[in-house]
Amino acid sequence: MKNNSGTLLFAYWVSCTLQLSQCCSFGHDDLSRRSPVDYTPVITANKLARDQRLSRRKAAPSRFAITNTHIFNGVGLSPASTVIVHDGLIEAVCTPECALVSVPAEATYDAGGMTLLPGLMDSHAHPSNVTHLTALTASGVTTTVLANCAVAALCASLDDHPGLTTLTRASLAATSPNSTHAAMLLAQGVTLSRLIANLAQIPSWITTEVSTGGAFIKIIGSAPGTGLQPAALTLLVREAHAAGIIVVLHASSTVAFAQGVAAGADQVHHSTLDEAADDGLVAAYVAAGTVVCPTLTMMRAIVEQLNPAGASFDAAVKTARRLHAAGVELLVGTDGNWEATSPARVLFGSSVHDELENMVRLVGMSPVEALRAATEKPARAFGLVDRGVVAVGKRADLVLVEGDPTVDIKSARAVRRVWVGGIEFRE
Ligand SMILES: *[C@@H]1O[C@H](CO)[C@@H](O)[C@H](O)[C@H]1NC(C)=O
Ligand SMILES: *[C@@H]1O[C@H](CO)[C@@H](O)[C@H](O)[C@H]1NC(C)=O
Ligand SMILES: [Zn+2]
Repeated sequence: MKNNSGTLLFAYWVSCTLQLSQCCSFGHDDLSRRSPVDYTPVITANKLARDQRLSRRKAAPSRFAITNTHIFNGVGLSPASTVIVHDGLIEAVCTPECALVSVPAEATYDAGGMTLLPGLMDSHAHPSNVTHLTALTASGVTTTVLANCAVAALCASLDDHPGLTTLTRASLAATSPNSTHAAMLLAQGVTLSRLIANLAQIPSWITTEVSTGGAFIKIIGSAPGTGLQPAALTLLVREAHAAGIIVVLHASSTVAFAQGVAAGADQVHHSTLDEAADDGLVAAYVAAGTVVCPTLTMMRAIVEQLNPAGASFDAAVKTARRLHAAGVELLVGTDGNWEATSPARVLFGSSVHDELENMVRLVGMSPVEALRAATEKPARAFGLVDRGVVAVGKRADLVLVEGDPTVDIKSARAVRRVWVGGIEFRE
């Protein structure tokens, strides 16, 4: 436990997604004494991989067609249809066939009756290198929400890898110096001045995070542990909204869930591990229209792998079920993270399919609802209006799968081909 690699830091981050006092047996001092992780090698490797991928890319036809495919349209599957892609966008969708005059024969792909889904979206993950992006894309994930960005240069080195999942990036996770998350961020090299010690800092904090590439503001709701207080949560949300960007609040207890909705966060991520949300809390989410990303895959990993006292996966599931039954919008997100030896490990990519199955088997969604919670719903929730559905004018983020995932959600795992912005994924 005394090594200086990122291993322990990340394990700490993951286990501390729980803000239960039983979690994290070592003190903050252990972490803040560590020398900050040097991200230069991974940033350099990411950029090199991007350059190599760019130079390897063969001149792909700017226009291609996928024929004989059943398209997921948000309610079910279409009859056999054709999709034409031009310059990264969907140019035409025809049933059964488009006039293919403009498409060269070698750029026409007969899908043999397979199902075409809009690219999947993981609404909560922590990729940091190209192996992670590759695993996500191979599972059909064409958009990934990077749920915390502590080092802008590292986040930027994950952008613009042709044919790999695209990221939408959080701010640095907002937290106060006395929270368990703060110790982790400091050890990652985040300076004390980027932590929020008083309300007066908040307006300029928001401005800085937006200017360094944060597409939305992430806030750590730490209750019942120490951390940002309700007045700070409310002000962060107000200032973010004034800047025109949305807010995602981390919460893993009922108190933090209540504070998140009261503060006006657009989305609350994770689920309640202490006890299930009661009718009053569920009603508050319905009234506010707050979107929830329960990351049940991570909630299960925490309970099964760490088993902190007082944490119950059943409570987390019940909360998600109750929210869904009451009409609260839920998103598919995993909290996928990189550390193989982390106590709460969640794999990139395949975990999206685990979460789709959780949504159907545990939360009570139909397979169609689960697919929408991984496509159209998150696209709308994160303001990504250019994607999430297979329709003319949208990005050609497309996934071909075998079988009918609107009947059996497991079929969504049988990914055969993936295009990201019209560029076919290759390992
Ligand atoms: C932690 O720090 C914040 C911000 O400085 C402060 O508002 C709060 O009272 C502190 N204590 C607890 C218990 O959260
Ligand atoms: C990315 O990190 C993982 C650890 O999760 C490691 O196994 C893998 O080799 C890394 N990939 C690259 C390209 O550095
Ligand atoms: Zn996370």
